[in-house]
Amino acid sequence: MKNILVTGGTGFIGSETAIALLENGYRPILVDNLSNSKEEVVDRIETITGTRPVFYKADCCDLAAFRDVFEKETIDGVIHFAGLKAVGESVSKPIEYYSNNLESTLNLLLLMREFGVKNLVFSSSATVYGVPKRVPLKEEDPVGNATNPYGETKIMIERILEDAQKADPSLNIALLRYFNPIGAHPSGLLGEDPNGIPNNLMPYICQVAVGKRKELHVFGDDYPTRDGTGIRDYIHVFDLAEGHVATLKRLEDKPGLVVYNLGTGKGTSVLELVHAFEEANGIKVPYVIDPRRSGDVAENFADVAKAEKELHWRSRFNVVDACKDAYRFQKKNPNGI
Ligand code: NAD
Ligand code: UFG
Repeated sequence: MKNILVTGGTGFIGSETAIALLENGYRPILVDNLSNSKEEVVDRIETITGTRPVFYKADCCDLAAFRDVFEKETIDGVIHFAGLKAVGESVSKPIEYYSNNLESTLNLLLLMREFGVKNLVFSSSATVYGVPKRVPLKEEDPVGNATNPYGETKIMIERILEDAQKADPSLNIALLRYFNPIGAHPSGLLGEDPNGIPNNLMPYICQVAVGKRKELHVFGDDYPTRDGTGIRDYIHVFDLAEGHVATLKRLEDKPGLVVYNLGTGKGTSVLELVHAFEEANGIKVPYVIDPRRSGDVAENFADVAKAEKELHWRSRFNVVDACKDAYRFQKKNPNGI
């Protein structure tokens, strides 16, 4: 496998993965409709790696435009990042979320069949586990009852991919359930670049740290956790990107359908992340305690034993590293990319 189609390739995780692919001898072919990223990302990938990846501005929901990419390129495998991902927005715009996330995936499956492409890595999420009955979460734990339409799209797509693989056993598909990706490329050139008020904790902390926002709102300090704030498994986006390279290698064994948690195996509370950020960057992050955010779970972190064993991969960076990199990116790009 050499030529890897990367949908959503100019996004936060896609761009970091494109770098990891280039650095490991692959040829990434990026496709993105730029609904949540900028074409400038392609220049920055070139600056970092010395190679300009092929880029197509195309919407995966537009079958004809997407087919054009398959006609022009030889594709050995696909990493499917493209999708809408804002949990809160998915509650107010469910139709857009179901239609974008499902249609793009169905089009991809139709084109993979038409062009005989057999290998697919899908960006799923720990959100498919819903409210965990126990932590750490294992891949065989029950999936279902997401707390929002975004999560439902991930559950539905996992189901669609399972059915597609059952119907065509020559397909090799990896469902990667990411925990909480944070951090940025250490160059400070690429990172998370949300529009408007950040939904996620790390970009919010970064904007408080550079004075763009007054204070962090900690959503609840009355959870049954060690300091009362929510616990998550924060994984550096660099480690996550390498997890995709490891997964492509795994697909070469023709395993059929496989599922892996990509996390660190370690839970960190909101306040622990705030303190790690302060320690990493020598800066205070003012915060206030607000009520819980609806739909949040108290605690979730991954059991990563299966990914470590079968992918020969494990995370290498800790939250302090990720806080340094995220802050560097924020300082270098105060108004985004
Ligand atoms: P992102 O928004 O930065 O990247 C997604 C990219 O897909 C964007 O560049 C966007 O423009 C593009 N896109 C969206 N719809 C498209 C379409 N129809 N056609 C072509 N391009 C389209 O998000 P990210 O954080 O890099 O997430 C990548 C994937 O990982 C998503 O599927 C997301 O749901 C999943 N994921 C993310 C997280 C997280 O916390 N960041 C956690 C779990 C899973
Ligand atoms: N939080 C705050 N203040 C904020 C933002 C978040 O206190 O301003 C807290 C949340 O309550 C939670 C923790 O920080 O306890 C992490 O919240 P995020 O919004 O950063 O991340 P989530 O765990 O809610 O969700 C993320 C992604 C989802 C993905 C999920 C997988 O946004 O796409 O991880 O576990 F599905």
